Amino acid sequence: MTEITASTHFHVETDSDNIAWLHFNKADSSTNVLNAEVFDQLDQHLAEIARLNPRGLVILSDKRNGFIAGADISAFTRINHTDQALAFLRRGQDVFNRLEALPFPTVALIHGFCLGGGTELSLACRYRVTRDDPGTRMGLPEVKLGIHPGWGGSARLVPLLGGLKAMDLILSGRSIDGRSGKRLGLVDLVVPERHLRAAARKLVLESPAPHQAGWLDRLSNHALVRPLLARVFRQQVGKRANKKHYPSPYAMIDIWRRHATDKPRMLEAEAQSLAQLVNGATARNLVRVFFLQEQLKSLGKDKSYTPQYVHVIGAGTMGGDIAAWCAFRGFRVSLQDQSPERIAPAIKRAHTLFTRKLKTPAKITAAMDRLLPDHKGAGVERADIVIEAIFEDADVKRSLYRDIEPRMKADALLATNTSSIPLEELCGALLRPDRLVGLHFFNPVAMMQLVEVVVGHATSPVVTARAMAFTRQIDRLPLPVTSTPGFLVNRILMPYLMEAVQLEAEGVPPAVIDKAATDFGMPMGPVLLADTVGLDICLHVAEILASHFHAEVPESLKKQVADGHLGRKSGHGFYQYKKGKVVKSTARTGNWNLEDISNRLIDRLLNEAVSCLREHVVENKDLLDAGMIFGTGFAPFRGGPMQYIDAVGAETVYRQLQGLQTLRGERFAPDPGWNTLIHS
Ligand code: NAI
Repeated sequence: MTEITASTHFHVETDSDNIAWLHFNKADSSTNVLNAEVFDQLDQHLAEIARLNPRGLVILSDKRNGFIAGADISAFTRINHTDQALAFLRRGQDVFNRLEALPFPTVALIHGFCLGGGTELSLACRYRVTRDDPGTRMGLPEVKLGIHPGWGGSARLVPLLGGLKAMDLILSGRSIDGRSGKRLGLVDLVVPERHLRAAARKLVLESPAPHQAGWLDRLSNHALVRPLLARVFRQQVGKRANKKHYPSPYAMIDIWRRHATDKPRMLEAEAQSLAQLVNGATARNLVRVFFLQEQLKSLGKDKSYTPQYVHVIGAGTMGGDIAAWCAFRGFRVSLQDQSPERIAPAIKRAHTLFTRKLKTPAKITAAMDRLLPDHKGAGVERADIVIEAIFEDADVKRSLYRDIEPRMKADALLATNTSSIPLEELCGALLRPDRLVGLHFFNPVAMMQLVEVVVGHATSPVVTARAMAFTRQIDRLPLPVTSTPGFLVNRILMPYLMEAVQLEAEGVPPAVIDKAATDFGMPMGPVLLADTVGLDICLHVAEILASHFHAEVPESLKKQVADGHLGRKSGHGFYQYKKGKVVKSTARTGNWNLEDISNRLIDRLLNEAVSCLREHVVENKDLLDAGMIFGTGFAPFRGGPMQYIDAVGAETVYRQLQGLQTLRGERFAPDPGWNTLIHS
């Protein structure tokens, strides 16, 4: 190899076959991402390579973690005008057009992440070779950030795969490994790591005809078929994303319907549409959510903590699933309960989880081997972390702690999954209260990303940092919260759920209440959520919070629970259920003002959020928003409750609350924290 040229982010070599190898290794970054400077340097290298006229060009990454992760997302946050966005997009398109126009074979040699702009760059090459492993992922995930491809991703993918397959990939935003890419026609060769370079060289030297979509795939781009398919796409997207809240997939469908077979027009339409979207509220908020997620991840970055063994006590709904999740993530886990019979159902559920997630028998068996039923609790002595998830009863928990503490390793953490008991009430039973921390998981454990890391007065900073690092190691997002009633998420959610119960008691049908909330952008309406969580659990948490915050629990909730109507699990709650599915009511729902309903629901939630912020339950607004988005699914396109207050104006919400207080009572009384917000 002979190095012929280099810049900050790239260097180019040629080999004895006169093939140019363009290495991308973004300076000062662990990951390759695309920004204006990278495009400038890439452009210069491509111009020079074109002058050299080699036998072919291979583009590869020198980063261990992958090829190119996409655009530098922080660059988006610096774009303030449509013209600015358009210039940035056209610049990228010009560079990729130059790459595509090179007269010799070009190959993208892909390992690890190849997402967004990375996939778009690879599509401008004649061939794509990927490493054969599940960690190599290609895809166009832009819709997840409220945008769509803008550097020719759709204009090139649509002819390559046909409209149906290409649009499925773009609209779902999912990523695929090399083998799936090969089956689709996106990837030409999938080979083990050691053959990657040889495979790229072979493609250059043999220069086979590039992949072409089959006739059936091409048919889906036909002008007569497109309007029909566009309708199907819109319907499919409509099931998961409201056009008003998430415009980007709909814009993409329109661009495809109009220009699928006219590449220059499609390129222009991609850029024009994306330049608008980038400056819209949805994209800005979703980019914000992306950074909030990064922020939570960084809280658990302490790599020096390497626990191996987890002991979980309580094999019920939560403990059983926490144990299964930890075993799935590679930990050795023992699971304790009062008898083997109580542990058995949890082991069965774990098997179902492993089968769904791991697929191959060898991996499923290995995960089962990591999960040990242990009704005598022998694992306490070996564990680096003991997670307690027994009944929500302070006396029972304290007596358990007295029993296990003398047997625990000196540096082991004791984590409780309590959803409501302050750590101060529990740690009195311990000789070393500094080792007690809350790890408050949400139900269902395998789906909910957030874990509240509850920090008591006595919890040591080292224990807190370790609890957060462990949370990351099991691929969950840690949120530090104070040990106050309801912590953050349940405390903010509860007034919203109670207002839904109140509305129902006033005669508003559950389906109408839920529609008001989902129209606002919640993933599930509050009535269905309460039924799903279990009305007994809701009542329990509501009563605890009510006793601390002098609030009232609606009588209708107490009555439902007294009547044994516990929600989905009992087949009867505010809705009726058959085989776990809601039976839709056929009764007429009448003319309800959905906006009034959603204001009542959301304003109570916002009021409690402001109260939590005033009391420093979390450190700042960003963490509060992150908690509500990752703990409850709070409308991500709105960026979280505090971001929503900023967008609407604190004073506006404050006045709305005052109005509701006059009309509906003291539960709407604005929290004193609004004053600070309004005057900040
Ligand atoms: P559960 O009632 O389903 O399970 C509790 C298990 O603990 C039972 O299997 C019981 O036999 C066992 N247990 C009780 N005392 C024990 C002891 N001394 N030694 C060993 N095992 C013992 O309860 P669930 O719902 O799993 O809740 C457990 C904890 O998690 C509670 O603190 C609860 O507040 C909290 N939590 C519950 C959530 C939920 O949605 N269910 C969500 C988040 C936290």
